[in-house]
Amino acid sequence: MTTVIEPRLQAGALVDQVVRRFGDRIVLDHLDLRIEGEELVVLLGPSGCGKSTLLRLLAGLDRPDGGAVEVPAQRAIVFQADRLLPWQRVLRNVTIGLHGPGADDRARAALREVGLAGRERAWPKELSGGEAQRVSLARALVSEPELVLLDEPFAALDAITRLRMHDLVRELRRKHHAAMLLVTHDVDEAIALADRIDVMSNGRIGNSHTVDLSAADREASIAREELRSALLADLGLVAQQ
Ligand SMILES: Nc1ncnc2c1ncn2[C@@H]1O[C@H](COP(=O)(O)OP(=O)(O)OP(=O)(O)O)[C@@H](O)[C@H]1O
Ligand SMILES: [Mg+2]
Repeated sequence: MTTVIEPRLQAGALVDQVVRRFGDRIVLDHLDLRIEGEELVVLLGPSGCGKSTLLRLLAGLDRPDGGAVEVPAQRAIVFQADRLLPWQRVLRNVTIGLHGPGADDRARAALREVGLAGRERAWPKELSGGEAQRVSLARALVSEPELVLLDEPFAALDAITRLRMHDLVRELRRKHHAAMLLVTHDVDEAIALADRIDVMSNGRIGNSHTVDLSAADREASIAREELRSALLADLGLVAQQ
């Protein structure tokens, strides 16, 4: 079986029959996944099912034991913890990995986009959790990636801040036309943001739900409640009334 990580797609991502083992434990078992150019796919699944493992493969931080991963050359990943460098100010945290004379200006523009204009000289420890994640988003987007991988980026934030971050993701999607793969444990977050929700089980994508709802229907509708119940059932949880 061939094992390939190819930065040859223009956009989106293609995962073909990917296997990843740790010792004798098979975490990803011939997993298939396709993300279109500007699609936002949310990945749900129980703890330990392999969601982060899959994201790491797509980011190029790990290699599969079998199968093929095709991704664009420009990729970015955002983790649950912000992973900012504490000894660098906010602006430098965003310019990491950027080259050329326009780097500072691009970083300033990215910080403006995430609502942090004026905080360029702050230290990471001076930021709130939400602000730190905004810096992480700015850092991810400043390189204009074709594929953005988000591993529970808002899980540590309070509910109100999380809702603000959802608005920000929608806004950023309108500006940047990247494909996104977002991992979350929050079914409501999935419904709020996804074009499609894939549920992992037994090392593969199990059920897949296309979310074809208007913004209003995502907030309150019978279709929303039906989708929520279906997702909870997929996760082996009983829908709450
Ligand atoms: N480098 C590694 N070495 C050994 N085992 C690993 C390694 N990375 C992941 N695993 C194992 O693979 C399984 C899947 O881990 P992964 O982090 O992908 O789960 P997850 O779905 O992201 O879980 P969570 O929702 O808790 O973040 C786990 O059992 C984990 O212990
Ligand atoms: Mg994880």
